[in-house]
Amino acid sequence: MRAVLTVENLCKTYIVNKQQNNVLRNINFTLQEGEFVSIMGPSGSGKSTLLYTVSGMDRLTAGEVIFDGISLSKLSEKQMAEIRLHKMGFIFQQINMLKNLSIYDNIILSGYQALKSNGSKRSRSDVNADADKLMKRLGIIKLASHDITEVSGGQLQRACICRSLINKPKMLFADEPTGALNSKAAKEVMAELCQINGDGTTIMIVTHDVKVAAQSDKVFYMVDGNIQGELKLDKFSYEKSVRERERRLNNWLMEMGW
Ligand SMILES: Nc1ncnc2c1ncn2[C@@H]1O[C@H](COP(=O)(O)OP(=O)(O)OP(=O)(O)O)[C@@H](O)[C@H]1O
Ligand SMILES: [Mg+2]
Repeated sequence: MRAVLTVENLCKTYIVNKQQNNVLRNINFTLQEGEFVSIMGPSGSGKSTLLYTVSGMDRLTAGEVIFDGISLSKLSEKQMAEIRLHKMGFIFQQINMLKNLSIYDNIILSGYQALKSNGSKRSRSDVNADADKLMKRLGIIKLASHDITEVSGGQLQRACICRSLINKPKMLFADEPTGALNSKAAKEVMAELCQINGDGTTIMIVTHDVKVAAQSDKVFYMVDGNIQGELKLDKFSYEKSVRERERRLNNWLMEMGW
């Protein structure tokens, strides 16, 4: 096993109206390649901030984040953007799809962007073929030419997953990937994330949903900018009892004060 993400003494402080808010306080953890971790915890505990900071979307205040062997704190904005484009995938509610583009164009956009980088051996037709494959796999190929306003929430979320995977990232970050979905759509999205993880992609998600977190390998519980506890579950497979995992997670969350 190889570490893909190492977080050392990570601190993040926001200053609003001259008031200092220590949102992340000395966070430490390591994720191995192929792991699937969920972050849970009360509203305002710092879950989204943790996701943004370790994925280089936001600057850290102190400490270090080592992603795929690279220290992120030392990178320029441009270098960081390259790593995000080539090695990371994002399913964040804040990063909206572009309104004047079709579902298909939204998906291929960062694929084409990545071609401009030095050393890329992919062509535009490779990107198109990969987009087709992803859309077929996620069951939205018939919606390719639709505007983003002409699809359901679950379909749009699946399109977001396609877009996040277009450059074959090493690691996927998702903030409440099922938050806006009904339970059927949430189940479908989770089945896809589990499959993507089974293919070797490391995944880190923030979720409030026990059913979602119960499908990950590991759960971190955050309180006031600290990881207060960690629950190890085994790799999820449908053969094993889902209910038993949910029961274990629920009991643990109660102990954590959820
Ligand atoms: N850009 C920002 N500027 C200033 N303060 C921020 C910023 N983003 C978050 N915060 C503050 O950091 C704290 C943690 O916010 P964060 O969004 O990480 O919480 P969360 O655990 O994701 O909550 P939720 O479950 O509600 O999404 C909050 O007190 C919030 O007000
Ligand atoms: Mg949040």
